[in-house]
Amino acid sequence: MMDTIFDEFPQLGKVEMREAGTQRKIKSFVLRSGALKPFQLEALRQFYPTHVVEYQKGILDFTTVFGNDKPVIIEIGFGMGASSHRIAKERQEYNYLGLEVFLSGFTKLLSLIGKDGLTNIRIMRFDAVEVLTHMIAEGSVAGFHIFFPDPWPKKKHHKRRLIQEPLANLIAQKLKKGGYIYCVTDWEEYAYQMLDVFAKIPSLTNTYDGFAPPKEWRPTTSFEQKGLAQEFPINEVWVEKL
Ligand SMILES: C[S@@+](CC[C@H](N)C(=O)[O-])C[C@H]1O[C@@H](n2cnc3c(N)ncnc32)[C@H](O)[C@@H]1O
Repeated sequence: MMDTIFDEFPQLGKVEMREAGTQRKIKSFVLRSGALKPFQLEALRQFYPTHVVEYQKGILDFTTVFGNDKPVIIEIGFGMGASSHRIAKERQEYNYLGLEVFLSGFTKLLSLIGKDGLTNIRIMRFDAVEVLTHMIAEGSVAGFHIFFPDPWPKKKHHKRRLIQEPLANLIAQKLKKGGYIYCVTDWEEYAYQMLDVFAKIPSLTNTYDGFAPPKEWRPTTSFEQKGLAQEFPINEVWVEKL
């Protein structure tokens, strides 16, 4: 089934580029597999042309992609995408570019946004670090959403965490002045790491005293529900570019 789908959509079969002869860099994700359901295959066939952006090594022109100049929010790791769908639907004053490598979640969100005919959201199945590095212009992004990034709780895996100085520097470069980064996690020690990492980036400022209050427009995500069920604290981090 997977082979067939990658025959049909060859671009979906690759989530990262590796230069010949180089080692794979440490990644923040592990690819989960699983058969797609008929509605997900259907979504690919129907909505790929209108809602999917393919990886290219060249800067993406947001005006061409969205057909307007609304500010663009990039979401890293949207998972199953239910909250991304709701935010895009309810906050139409922005355009959204969602990045996720998990094919089942990617096709689920594709189905939701395609069926609703949302024109202010596009999605990519590719490593966010590579997309940001090669496709996103400096000073072009109004905000980043990173909700419940994988906590990688074991110490030996901490190097896989997304929110570390290299990524923080990269996203700070891509932000416009006044743009924001909004991260939420249920892993307390990672939440403090986020505060520390962003505090080290000179162009970013935390306008709150430590953690931020939740934004009323952010729906509960599916990972959040799991954290809440275990009574983990939910911590929100909001920083802005000076
Ligand atoms: C713990 S899940 C959270 C999903 C969702 N935001 C939620 O709250 O339910 C983190 C997601 O980030 C994705 N992810 C991690 N690193 C990524 C990367 N470098 N590029 C794209 N997606 C990534 C994973 O595939 C995973 O689905």
